[in-house]
Amino acid sequence: MEKHSIIIAIDGYSSCGKSTMAKDLARRIGYIYIDSGAMYRAVTLYCLDNNLINDGKVDIQSLAGEMKNIHITFATNPTTGKQETYLNGKCVEQEIRTMRVSSCVSLVSQIDFVRQALVAQQRQLGNDKGIVMDGRDIGTAVFPDAELKIFVTASARTRAERRAAEMQAAGENADIDAIERNIAMRDQMDMTRVISPLRKAQDAIELDNSHMTIAEQNAWLEARYNETITRLQQQ
Ligand code: DC
Repeated sequence: MEKHSIIIAIDGYSSCGKSTMAKDLARRIGYIYIDSGAMYRAVTLYCLDNNLINDGKVDIQSLAGEMKNIHITFATNPTTGKQETYLNGKCVEQEIRTMRVSSCVSLVSQIDFVRQALVAQQRQLGNDKGIVMDGRDIGTAVFPDAELKIFVTASARTRAERRAAEMQAAGENADIDAIERNIAMRDQMDMTRVISPLRKAQDAIELDNSHMTIAEQNAWLEARYNETITRLQQQ
């Protein structure tokens, strides 16, 4: 029997482990993994590096003109085997994860033409299916027909602790309270923005992973994937 190739959409709050489980599943089942948040982060980095964000405000007009000069791609690092984000040919994987970018990304991700450009690119990446994509609007706006949709949640404190551990492991200073405030602020902006606000798609399966280990959540996701494939094969 032919094995179905599907689209797996994983949405949820920031820093709740979406990418960890998405990457793990993609590796196990041989799918492409796309971190849509990295694309919004890369546009934000471009804005910061080109003086398009000043006093907490984005220079919308200049950014609209610059969009054609912003090219985001992904490539696998041959040494680590990990996927990395490139902005105009330069690897920015580390830089897009810093607080400098995190604290401005919500400003950029609520701009309509930025979303339109990135959503178009995301859909193109999913043309051949066989993709796991994580973000905020993947199951609602990017791939409303995705065969498997997951909506992940975890408490803000749990998420701040996890992000701090990641930053410390990368040798960065981490102030858990500041991270928690940033997470709460981004939750608020993600949920209340006018275009594609963060919300659970009606047909998404919800997962609160506050009390789960990484291994448990990976196994949970793989079980949902297997169920979906079985269901499709029976149709
Ligand atoms: O998942 P993340 O924290 O790396 O995402 C960075 C920001 O990008 C986050 O504040 C919300 C935004 N984002 C979005 O608006 N839509 C997506 N599909 C993915 C991320």
